[in-house]
Amino acid sequence: MTSPHERLRLGVNIDHVATVRNARGGDTPDPLRAARLAQESGADGITAHLREDRRHISDADIDGLMEVLTVPLNFEMAATDEMQKIALRHKPHAVCLVPEKREERTTEGGLEVAREENKLAHYIAPLREAGCRVSIFIAADPRQIDAAHRIGAEVVELHTGAYCDAHAEGHFDIRDAELEKLRTMATHAHALGLEVHAGHGLTYDTVQPVAAFPEVKELNIGHFLIGEAIFRGLQPAIAEMRRLMDAARA
Ligand code: PXP
Repeated sequence: MTSPHERLRLGVNIDHVATVRNARGGDTPDPLRAARLAQESGADGITAHLREDRRHISDADIDGLMEVLTVPLNFEMAATDEMQKIALRHKPHAVCLVPEKREERTTEGGLEVAREENKLAHYIAPLREAGCRVSIFIAADPRQIDAAHRIGAEVVELHTGAYCDAHAEGHFDIRDAELEKLRTMATHAHALGLEVHAGHGLTYDTVQPVAAFPEVKELNIGHFLIGEAIFRGLQPAIAEMRRLMDAARA
């Protein structure tokens, strides 16, 4: 069992720095500058999602991140042939497989692993051989977690979106039920030997109950931090998240 006092890692997702840049089609704000600043501010890793439609992070951003980062890159991608080729070319520290739909605004659900077990087992094999830690972004559902374990993933990232949405909408009974599901599934995944991460929609208000789960080793947080950076700057925005995570863990 992971010690509850072990430092919980914070992965900062910089996708939405690229979203703002792309709104004008120029070079600013620069996601690489944000990544460097995030790592100087205590981020333990940087996460970037290269979407099929390149709506935020670009191929050149991934090239740049691979060059400048001193902390691990968690490369989020859909399980397509194109993305597999890109990942195998870069060999990032981690590859996180996410479902992707063109029409969605953000990653809406977890990956369907149980129904695609064979296909995904073959898909991740070369990534693992290349030395990438394969993580699967997944709903807090035992069927999916068991399937992720069977295909040989090393990490599952639990989707915290439903928990965060229920909090934001003031549906506190649903929020608490979602949190309980996350807690149970973190324990379940950990017992199978999977490393447990969590993320999506986390804010200063919602991070602490998840950060307190001793099985969770890493949180990946993006949209809220980049938004908060407008008001307090990226460094203080990250520092406050770090403080809340550490306090929850203490
Ligand atoms: N983890 C995964 C797998 C994601 O797809 C995302 C969103 O890109 C995040 C974490 C971060 O979510 P948010 O930007 O809402 O903090």
